[in-house]
Amino acid sequence: MCWVFGYIGAPGKAAREVLAGLQRLEYRGYDSAGICVINPDKNLEVIKAVGKVNNLKVKTDSIDFSTYHAGIGHTRWATHGGVTEANCHPHLSQSGRFVVIHNGIIENYAELRDELIAKGYVFHSETDTEVTVHLFEDIFDGDYLSTMTKLVAKMHGAYGLVFLDRDNGNQIFGTKKGSPMVLGFGKTERYISSDYRSLIGLIDDYIILEDGDIFLVTLDNYTILSGWQDADRTRQIVGEDEKVVELGDFPNFMLKEVFEQPRVLEDVFRGRIDFSSNSLHSDTLEHIAMLGIKKVTIVASGTSYHAGLLGKYYLEELSNIPVDVVVSTEFKYKKKFVSSDELYIFVSQSGETIDTLDSLKIVKEQWGHVFGIVNVPGSAIARAAGQGLFTRAGTEVGVASTKAFVTQVACFLFLSLYLGQKNGLDYRKYREIIDSIAKLPEAISSILLSNEAIRKVAEKYANSTNFFYLGRAHELVIAMEGSLKLKELAYIHSEAYSSGELKHGSIALIDSDFPSLMINGGGILSPKNASSAEEIRARGGPVIGIIAKDDPNKQVYADVIEFDPLISELNPFLEVVILQLFAYHIANFLGRDVDKPRNLAKSVTVE
Ligand code: AGP
Repeated sequence: MCWVFGYIGAPGKAAREVLAGLQRLEYRGYDSAGICVINPDKNLEVIKAVGKVNNLKVKTDSIDFSTYHAGIGHTRWATHGGVTEANCHPHLSQSGRFVVIHNGIIENYAELRDELIAKGYVFHSETDTEVTVHLFEDIFDGDYLSTMTKLVAKMHGAYGLVFLDRDNGNQIFGTKKGSPMVLGFGKTERYISSDYRSLIGLIDDYIILEDGDIFLVTLDNYTILSGWQDADRTRQIVGEDEKVVELGDFPNFMLKEVFEQPRVLEDVFRGRIDFSSNSLHSDTLEHIAMLGIKKVTIVASGTSYHAGLLGKYYLEELSNIPVDVVVSTEFKYKKKFVSSDELYIFVSQSGETIDTLDSLKIVKEQWGHVFGIVNVPGSAIARAAGQGLFTRAGTEVGVASTKAFVTQVACFLFLSLYLGQKNGLDYRKYREIIDSIAKLPEAISSILLSNEAIRKVAEKYANSTNFFYLGRAHELVIAMEGSLKLKELAYIHSEAYSSGELKHGSIALIDSDFPSLMINGGGILSPKNASSAEEIRARGGPVIGIIAKDDPNKQVYADVIEFDPLISELNPFLEVVILQLFAYHIANFLGRDVDKPRNLAKSVTVE
């Protein structure tokens, strides 16, 4: 998505600070980027470039910014209008006095644009954003906050808007609804950003703006209005342990994050499961257990949706509670039957996904019990849910979700065990799972030791243009997640199927150029998966088996990636790591940017 960054401070620093801020935010949206800086002499420089922030940096190299003290910058994920320089933000008002950057979508932009064109305004881009700056100029009454309240009243949609005034460069002002935005306070500088983590190391404290807030920041002061009133927002201190995430010895963040999975799986259970006494601890879950929940609905998108699908298996099998899982984009607009014995779980790595957030708000408005499984503390979903489990995966920079996924699944497993022990879960099963959870980090470490073997198999198939990912039950969900990883990282078409379902039509696609991955780590359905693999082999299709080392049906597969299995309920944790690496190596082989795949963004803050 688009991301905004603003700075006000020392002369000469504005361009450098804004560009550095954009680079820290770049993983979240990266079609194109632009900055605008101003100086006290009312000079205003706008520079834009298509592609990565580095392209923008190159363009700024020869410019003397020594007098510029304030600036705003933007990384774009195109919604309205193609990826062109003209559509890059910042956008200028008709007179060139005001300048804006925007994250979100102005839904009534066409109507506003027509009104402004009728008044003589000339548009230079195809964006929805440009209306905001012309409109601001059109209705400007000499007071930034007052004009902003009028602007907000005219716009529908979602927005994080940040403005500068060329004629008075001592302040930055704007508003937000639906799009994240924070004000950051350094010793002698002020910042605006879509994500406070882009400000770590620069600020002492920050304010998370709420929907509807209108703000104006100067070096000495700030005002936040909510409605017509001054809003009292808490200044939050940046924690001492919060650091800028470094790559270390890894070639990219994706690989680093894949390799962090043993550690994050220790962190997610720390203090929650006491392995010496096999006991579970969570005040939040104790409260949930007392609600007498009879049904669960899980709402999420993308990889988080897949975590929810595994959550369904765990909750139904271990806690004996029926579960629906709905993608948030669909949930939002479907009829809801919210009742007091139902729990709604919203899953999100970023905690900012707009469809998931909006869905949560709808359930809350109907007094439903909401619960978040979120990675980012302080994010909009974490704040709106008010209760839940943090996944403790740490900052995930790679756009393709990896370590966040395994920790989301771990949270579902923990929740299911917690509710299960109150709901008649068999003690032996409970112990078996706890014992296996204790072995998880080491089991994943040994998968990571097979990285080279996984790479060899992946590269053998790297030039294929289609893949099936197959499995049943828990492993079908892992097939779905593996297939998504291949699509987003390598840009190769793949489909996930129940291995038993293939023969009902899609097996017609199979030929020698159409490989399938069979996710088949063992358990009672394993022979059935092997039979499906036989059926594909009989039609000339190569099948790559993701199988247990002692699998008796090894001969069915053209290639195998073997691993030491845990109990079948926990094998998905291991299998997904293999599929993450499989997709990673194909993408790498094909020269893709694995941290920032094309057309994507790290968090999706527009509908
Ligand atoms: C997964 O690799 C993607 N980054 C994407 O599917 C993601 O999981 C989805 O957009 C949901 O994001 P969230 O977890 O931040 O809500």
